Amino acid sequence: MANSVETETPNAGEAAYWTSRSGQKWVDYQQSLDRLFSEVAELLIREAAPGSGESVLDLGCGTGATSLALASCVAPGGDVVGIDISSLLLGIARDRAAAAECANVRFVEADAQTHAFEPGRFDLLVSRFGSMFFGGPVEAFENMRTGLRSGGRVYLAAWAPVSNNPWFAIAGEAAMARLGSVPKAEPNTPGPFGFANRDYASGILRDAGFADIAVDAVTVELVAPDSPSEAAELACNVGQAVRIIAAKNGTAEDAAAIADAVAATLLAYQTSNGIRIPAMINLISARCP
Ligand SMILES: C[S@@+](CC[C@H](N)C(=O)[O-])C[C@H]1O[C@@H](n2cnc3c(N)ncnc32)[C@H](O)[C@@H]1O
Repeated sequence: MANSVETETPNAGEAAYWTSRSGQKWVDYQQSLDRLFSEVAELLIREAAPGSGESVLDLGCGTGATSLALASCVAPGGDVVGIDISSLLLGIARDRAAAAECANVRFVEADAQTHAFEPGRFDLLVSRFGSMFFGGPVEAFENMRTGLRSGGRVYLAAWAPVSNNPWFAIAGEAAMARLGSVPKAEPNTPGPFGFANRDYASGILRDAGFADIAVDAVTVELVAPDSPSEAAELACNVGQAVRIIAAKNGTAEDAAAIADAVAATLLAYQTSNGIRIPAMINLISARCP
């Protein structure tokens, strides 16, 4: 039976998506995804510079990797609240926090667009790829602003356009080569590339009442699984390929052929240090006035 977060929210579709088979992939591949995005977590923490004693809100925390890393940065005396709309992913986050005996992190299952934040509770709002899925992004960031103290900082990592991100482009192109093209996502709409346009992302923060807004394109490396076939499996299961295969009613044979094509293309990114894919993110920073 769906609970209230999954039904009575403006982002009910996201709640359903992130608790469905698509969300389950983030559970199945949690270790590989955290390794893939490890440089993004490091970048966010370096830029946000969480200090001991600070309180941090981790938006769209998923399975909790960044929440746990932030929690160790703010100890002693500080704490982290990970907020996420997916009960499925939060279950993993809570298990990980318990296994790590991390006492200064807790997780809230809620839609960050409407959750009643305690006014001025947080010093810092951070998100690794959890900020681009709101149906009402201005309302969502206005709402989260109420949870920040005056002077509170915001650091969000969002994907730059897919044309700058071969990890996604390679799998998407391989799927379309096999099954035919699908319509491109509308720009500036909720989804992984929802904040790809830097002016749009900046305007959302401005309209939500933030100050000192900057959106910088930053290049990082994604750390893929070491073998090309495992890297291809990951690229084909989380991202564009799986959506195209579903939309085109692709078969298991199609999925295998697409994975083979992706593995062959990923060979070009093999280094002495494993498969490393250049990626571009938009690093969005702002301050609560
Ligand atoms: C791409 S995943 C990123 C997860 C995590 N930050 C990470 O880096 O592994 C996006 C996350 O945003 C969450 N999310 C989407 N819409 C949300 C909303 N309205 N409120 C809270 N979380 C949301 C999803 O459930 C999902 O866990």
